Amino acid sequence: MKILVVGGGGREHAIVWKIAQSPKVEKIYCAPGNGGIAETAECVNVAATDIDGMVALAKEKAVDLVMVAPDDPLAMGMVDALEKEGIRAFGPRANAAIIEGSKAFSKELMKKYNIPTAKYEVFDDSAKAVAYIKEQGKFPAVIKADGLALGKGVIIAQDLGEAEQAVHEMIDEGKFGKSGSRVVIEEFLTGPEVSVLAFTDGKTVKPMVSAQDHKRAYDNDKGLNTGGMGTFSPSRLYDEAKQKECMENIFLPTIKAMTAEGRPFKGVLYFGLMMTADGVKVIEYNCRFGDPETQVVLPRLKTDLVDIMEAVIDEKLDEIEIEWEDNAAVCVVMASGGYPVSYKKGYEITGLDSVDGVTVFHAGTAVKDGKIVTSGGRVLGVTALGANIDEARDKAYAAVDKISFKDEFHRSDIGIKKY
Ligand code: AMP
Ligand code: GLY
Repeated sequence: MKILVVGGGGREHAIVWKIAQSPKVEKIYCAPGNGGIAETAECVNVAATDIDGMVALAKEKAVDLVMVAPDDPLAMGMVDALEKEGIRAFGPRANAAIIEGSKAFSKELMKKYNIPTAKYEVFDDSAKAVAYIKEQGKFPAVIKADGLALGKGVIIAQDLGEAEQAVHEMIDEGKFGKSGSRVVIEEFLTGPEVSVLAFTDGKTVKPMVSAQDHKRAYDNDKGLNTGGMGTFSPSRLYDEAKQKECMENIFLPTIKAMTAEGRPFKGVLYFGLMMTADGVKVIEYNCRFGDPETQVVLPRLKTDLVDIMEAVIDEKLDEIEIEWEDNAAVCVVMASGGYPVSYKKGYEITGLDSVDGVTVFHAGTAVKDGKIVTSGGRVLGVTALGANIDEARDKAYAAVDKISFKDEFHRSDIGIKKY
């Protein structure tokens, strides 16, 4: 088979790496790809959001399957466009990707189908939003941009001043463009978080092993929210009882709700969950593999990913058995100084050849004059497997110590949390 993977970050590197292990695959293309992906796939310079360009590329290369990994092209209807041309594509159609693309949609879905989540209201008028926050009188208050905002559209306001500022910036000043012209104000929940990604064909849902992300930029969860600074798998708290609770109250009801709404979800559905004193609740849905969750989940997958993707496309997920390794994984993200605000690019990365026993997934790298250089905020995801999280973490950090580039920073506490 010839497969085209859409995207160019650490998640896509992990997907390409896993697909390359399939005996069925003879050639992988990745658009746009990055410096690390180029070692395994032929990278083609078509932007992940260029729908016409991607359809043309899939046709030109006569690929058998297109795996659309990022949220933007999914929300824009890339899968619909590929299917229209008779090209097999993995990922939800636009009418299902909205589960991530609009928080107002996903909150209303959960309310309608009794799926546990934080209490909320939706506003497109800043005065009304602020009046509601005052009326609730509870802080922190959670303010979320309705649309896609690169994982940065959530503000946890500690007092009324911060809340007013966040509402004003989103609705009146257009901080996130159209994505923030509508906001969701929701109740602040507390408890450990867990990410559970699941394969689904709209009828059957098969959860993957659990993972935990570290969203804040610095150690001890200080600093701004980022796309994710590191992950580990499995979560220490997501036991069999929690899995059963989630399957009954969240996973199956969500799949059924989307199908009942005429929006069958096919692809990977990501459940961002919080284990509260009052049961597990949904914090967010993503319509795709998480980044950097994928970097710790796929290395633990025994089954051929291509077989699973085909089963999803053909709506035969019930017929395939998905197997996982009984081990653990840790991914430490090495980032450019200044991320997630502003940072420089183009610095040479050294030490990549000196590490062994780990897999280095490239997130933001490029090849310049034959050298690997930085080209994004999150640069590398150094991933190690071990019998348990402590063993995996030691291996990952030993490798991180050997890799360097100017202004590099990373968290030193990935996987240390005892929950
Ligand atoms: P999201 O982009 O929706 O995943 O939100 C980013 C992060 O903000 C989450 O991972 C949580 O840590 C936090 N968060 C979002 N919603 C809530 C909430 N209702 N209560 C507490 N924390 C939240
Ligand atoms: N790591 C969170 C996300 O992929 O959205």
